[in-house]
Order: sequence, then structure tokens, then C-alpha cells
Amino acid sequence: MKKIKNLLIKKNKTKIVCLTAYSKNIAKEIDNFVDVILVGDSLGSVLYDFDTTRTVTLEMMINHSKSVRKGITKSLMVVDMPYNTYRNKSEALKNCKKVMKETKCDAVKLEGGNKKIVEIIKHLIKNNIPVMGHLGLLPQNEKGKFTFKGKSSKEKIRLLNEAKVLERTGVFAIVLECVEKKLSKEITDQIKIITIGIGASQHCDGQILVTDDLIGLTNSKIKFVKEFGNVRKTIRDAVKKYKTEVKSLKYPSKKYLY
Ligand code: KIV
Repeated sequence: MKKIKNLLIKKNKTKIVCLTAYSKNIAKEIDNFVDVILVGDSLGSVLYDFDTTRTVTLEMMINHSKSVRKGITKSLMVVDMPYNTYRNKSEALKNCKKVMKETKCDAVKLEGGNKKIVEIIKHLIKNNIPVMGHLGLLPQNEKGKFTFKGKSSKEKIRLLNEAKVLERTGVFAIVLECVEKKLSKEITDQIKIITIGIGASQHCDGQILVTDDLIGLTNSKIKFVKEFGNVRKTIRDAVKKYKTEVKSLKYPSKKYLY
């Protein structure tokens, strides 16, 4: 709870930096530089090459989260609840409790803002489960091509209203995915909790990216992804050197022998 309070006081003061992690090694490297580490169900497409995040299971999320937990000392750790694990109040509470207990995360993230999901989130918060919301493009609901949200005035009104309802329900933050620029500003200005954008403009209180995209491991072609590094090249260079040294008997040299 203290970590969540510390996050909320950053609104309008400084931008909130968030990234995903699926393993201890990545979590350990990013922990010092970010406020929030999300174990996203994007791991389904990024690591397992699934066509949709719907194939991700609770067991997969728990196993990756246990690994991530070992790499975090300071950031707020949030775990995505995968598809079909929060279809009603009792299923959601049972599965969220399991995730919180087994992964020792600080909060869970659920997608959507319709009446049904709001009732489920209300129930979770009443039972002391901290919840991060997720509006705009909802990968668990998306069939086919991903498009940005907030084009029509009807959609704008719906999304703004859903954000306000989620705030009243008690979520501490909302991820806005692929939300039109002006709308993401409007939402951010009109709610007191924090908005975290991904493809949703600099007006959000914070930003999140999939770390594998940011470090250039995935070669992502998504419009909002900026590669801040080129880990693919680093891997290739190291493996090439290793291969050369194995072939030429340079490795393992005396230094590496027992
Ligand atoms: O699954 C995920 O990684 C996410 C973020 C990219 C917001 O939901």
C-alpha cells in the first residue's frame, strides 16, 4: 500500500516510468530505473509466439511472476490476470488471491471498464486486492487487427466515462492502450488516479513499454514502439565470438579450466 501511495503522489509532479518483465534477470536490471514492473500477459506473444494473449494461463503468469519477484527490490510489482480467470466475482477473487499469495506481487491488472468488470473489480478491492485498470485497446478482447481507440465521439464519451467509473471503483491506476492523444489528455486531467500510456501520448501520467521491444530484442514493427537499444546485435556479436573461439580452440583457455 505504501508503494501505491508513493506512486499516486507523483501525479502532476513527475512522469511515472513503467516496464514489463517476464524473468528475474530482466527485472533485476530494470528495477532501479522504473516505478512499476508489470508481468504482462503480453508474454504470450513475446515469449511463446501465441497469436493472442487469450492462450496465456494462470500457471504461466504465476511461474513468470515468481521469477520476476526475485529480481525486484524496490519497484511496484503488478501481475496481469490472464483471460478467463476473472469471469465472475468468485472466480476473480479466488484467482487474484492465488496470484497475490504465490507471487507476492503488489497488485493485479484487469482489462476493461464495462458494468460487469466494474462489479468484479469492486469486489476485489473490497477484499483488499489492489487493482490496476486497463482501457482502450484490450488485447484479451481484440479479434484481428489492433486499432487505436477514441476515434468517434461515442467511443470518446464511453472511454472517459469508464475511466471515471474505474476511479470511483477504487483502482489506483489505469493503463491507456492505443488511446487517441486528446482523449488520453482529457482522461488524465479529469481523474485523480494515474494514467499509464502505451501508444496513448505524453499527456499520460506515466508510460509503459514491453521491455523486449524497448531493448530491441523483438524487432517490433508496432507504431508506438521505440527501440532504445539493440540487444539482438549484442547477442549475435557475442555468439559469433564464442563460435570463433570454440572452433579455433581459443576457448576454453587455461583460465577457464579446473
Ligand atoms: O501485457 C502487457 O504487457 C500489457 C502492457 C503492455 C500494458 O498489458
